[in-house]
Amino acid sequence: MPNVAVVGTQWGDEGKGKIVDLYTEGADVVARFQGGNNAGHTLVVNGRKTVLHLIPSGILHNNKICIIGNGVVIDLVVLMQEIDELQKGGLFPPHTKLFISEKAHLIMPYHKRLDMAREASASGKKIGTTGRGIGPAYEDKVARTGIRVCDLYDEPRLQEKLRYSLLEKNFLLTGLYSAEPFSVEEIAVEYLAYAQKIKSYVADTSLILDTALKAGKKILFEGAQGSHLDIDHGTYPYVTSSNTVAGNAACGSGLGPNAVNNVVGICKAYTTRVGEGPFLTELTCEIGQRIQKAGQEFGATTGRQRRCGWLDMVLVRQAVRTSGIAALAITKLDVLTGLETIKICTGYESVNGNYTSAVPASIDEFAQCRPVYEEFTGWKEDISRIRDFADLPVNARKYLQRLEILAGVPLNLVSVGAGREETIILKNPFRD
Ligand code: GDP
Ligand code: IMO
Ligand code: MG
Repeated sequence: MPNVAVVGTQWGDEGKGKIVDLYTEGADVVARFQGGNNAGHTLVVNGRKTVLHLIPSGILHNNKICIIGNGVVIDLVVLMQEIDELQKGGLFPPHTKLFISEKAHLIMPYHKRLDMAREASASGKKIGTTGRGIGPAYEDKVARTGIRVCDLYDEPRLQEKLRYSLLEKNFLLTGLYSAEPFSVEEIAVEYLAYAQKIKSYVADTSLILDTALKAGKKILFEGAQGSHLDIDHGTYPYVTSSNTVAGNAACGSGLGPNAVNNVVGICKAYTTRVGEGPFLTELTCEIGQRIQKAGQEFGATTGRQRRCGWLDMVLVRQAVRTSGIAALAITKLDVLTGLETIKICTGYESVNGNYTSAVPASIDEFAQCRPVYEEFTGWKEDISRIRDFADLPVNARKYLQRLEILAGVPLNLVSVGAGREETIILKNPFRD
């Protein structure tokens, strides 16, 4: 099928970057459609690690078009740094083009300061955000006071928008959070200079995508975060501020829903979460520490230690439903190697003793549920060099086969290491 969206099925960091990089070979265009530099997508190619926050994970391939769509919130300082680092490292291929939507909203310095001030003052109500200003930037977008990429090329308009925004933001920063205010003039001067630096990348990306579609090119939509960080479908309020589900691939890139033909869900063989919020299968014991260590579970953006726990199929099943996922790519199976017993959560027992196989909408109800587990015997063999499903240890196969049944959709990939080649491909969505 021509166009594919890749989305996370858990709480982010499922390994989307690795899979997008891998699938890019069969695509012509790779487009980010939501989130911002709260994302940290890691690619390991020929032993070299690259972490991307805003630039699509297809960038290492030559002859591709990479798009930062209208649904993304952009921190220009981070974007310019990322472009610079790729160029200096010889990682920005000569025939690959990067375009940024003129409609994308900007993360301004006051968004970051507000994000951090709120978190610092929210005793007991902290979300555990990445502190990158994501929430405040999306708030301004919805409040219709946001600054978009196109505003950078109209100086009087930029000044006027900044003046209006800072009236409120400075009041909040100084009055409520005892933080430093910002000056309109300083921000305007800084951002007008950035405008010139990024000008060659700015475009009507909806039009570029539409032209690609009409020319029969293949588009890969790259999701950030995960289904349970979705503003509508996630574990609200412990979520991010955008729709992370596949439906937003169309809206966040300026195409219609029929442009998204296929959806692949990325699912870690266990669960991790960064930041606050209930995590029913969390392992606070020695096994959790072991998984954390083996999986090197540290945030690619903030460096925070990720909380680890067993695979929760109630979450994954809901992700399959809310994103229309047709197949799953399982990552980090190698991390489970050596465990005596492995568990999968198949349902929850609610506070009143009832069994449920759905995620309750109320966060308090969710937090009070207890996971119901199925147990599996582990395997001891090193699986990182295996490239054929049939060569996996029998217990690893049993684990995956049960996972597939519980998900209700087939597996099309099993990742057994961070490297691009450390992958068992069962079906390539662009080829088969
Ligand atoms: P993303 O945000 O979904 O792109 O995921 P991250 O890059 O934040 O986190 C995934 C981490 O796991 C990265 O360090 C990857 O290099 C690594 N990784 C991806 N797939 C595998 C795998 O199959 N095995 C192991 N051991 N590491 C993996
Ligand atoms: P990728 O794309 C994991 C989490 C934060 C916090 C919550 C809200 O790498 O999978 P925000 O800064 O977005 O307002 O924080 O969402 N979070 C992520 N967790 N992976 C991510 O992205 C995340 N992006 C945001 O830790 O709990
Ligand atoms: Mg990540």
